[in-house]
Amino acid sequence: MRLLITGSTGMVGQNILEHPDASNYEVLAPRRSELDLLDISNIKSYLAVNQPDMIIHAAGVVGGIQANIAEPVRFLVDNMNMGVNVLTAAKSAGIKRFLNLSSSCMYPKDASNPLSENLILKGELEPTNEGYALAKVASTRLCEYIHAEDESFLYKTAIPCNLYGRHDKFDPKNSHMIPAVISKLFDAKKSNQSAVDIWGDGQARREFMYAGDLADFVFYAICNFERMPQNINVGLGKDYSINDYYAEIAKVVGFEGAFVHDLTKPVGMRQKLIDDSKLKSFGWNSSTSLECGLMQTVEYYKDTQ
Ligand SMILES: NC(=O)c1ccc[n+]([C@@H]2O[C@H](COP(=O)([O-])OP(=O)(O)OC[C@H]3O[C@@H](n4cnc5c(N)ncnc54)[C@H](OP(=O)(O)O)[C@@H]3O)[C@@H](O)[C@H]2O)c1
Repeated sequence: MRLLITGSTGMVGQNILEHPDASNYEVLAPRRSELDLLDISNIKSYLAVNQPDMIIHAAGVVGGIQANIAEPVRFLVDNMNMGVNVLTAAKSAGIKRFLNLSSSCMYPKDASNPLSENLILKGELEPTNEGYALAKVASTRLCEYIHAEDESFLYKTAIPCNLYGRHDKFDPKNSHMIPAVISKLFDAKKSNQSAVDIWGDGQARREFMYAGDLADFVFYAICNFERMPQNINVGLGKDYSINDYYAEIAKVVGFEGAFVHDLTKPVGMRQKLIDDSKLKSFGWNSSTSLECGLMQTVEYYKDTQ
């Protein structure tokens, strides 16, 4: 089977390419210079020449809260256009299998936890990443519509929780929580800081999965695509408090100072935990412990700084 991976230079794309099962496939992993998803004629000609059997759509404009707040137009427009372009071009090219990667950020902000797949569009979105979430909702629905119009097109969506791992972004302007805390605690250790601040009381809970495990899910999904649900959450089904993440990262990094809670700062959502019932019935589960995932991520950080 010939697989096209979009976003192959990103964290998810790189983890897919590094997975041992990648060698069982003929993998097309074009860089953006060869396949720009904002240019539909580029996509059409690429698909006509390369004729993949299946597309794994792992490209996107991705970032933490700061980046989403700073550039809401790009987060909405680029993600929306990439999704619509690649899905419609794939449909026109007659490609029958498409795995779309969405995000648990598309669930309504006040939805009750754990977040099940039927909560999509059941409430207002989180304002700090609304544009990104709208684009994710649109591509998820477009997959459903394409399949509804012609059942032979298996266009399905995986909805991962937050991810971390090798090939993550550590620059504070673009990073998510785990890489940001890794770089913060490394700096604190280097400069012998006696304490580090945590925004809020640290009791908000978050679910982070190792990106290597998402790659594992992708290959499981490829092999079991017919029976994969139309939309499926992918995560641990369990979460940790922000304080737990700081403590675990401090252990791995070797930071021995104290933590001070800055209660004047916002805490964000109290919890964002996916419902993993469908994932369990589908027969896949995440296998990397937080400690092991953090150790590999910190190794990657040390090697690349
Ligand atoms: N990271 C997470 O915590 C997380 C959680 C849930 C879901 N996801 C989803 O997983 C997917 C991948 O995320 P990631 O963390 O791997 O992001 P990432 O590291 O920022 O990678 C994004 C990838 O998309 C590519 N890309 C951006 N614009 C493009 C364009 N116009 N044409 C072609 N390629 C383009 C980038 O190419 P360049 O290298 O050229 O920029 C890069 O390869 C996204 O859909 C994201 O929403 C991520």
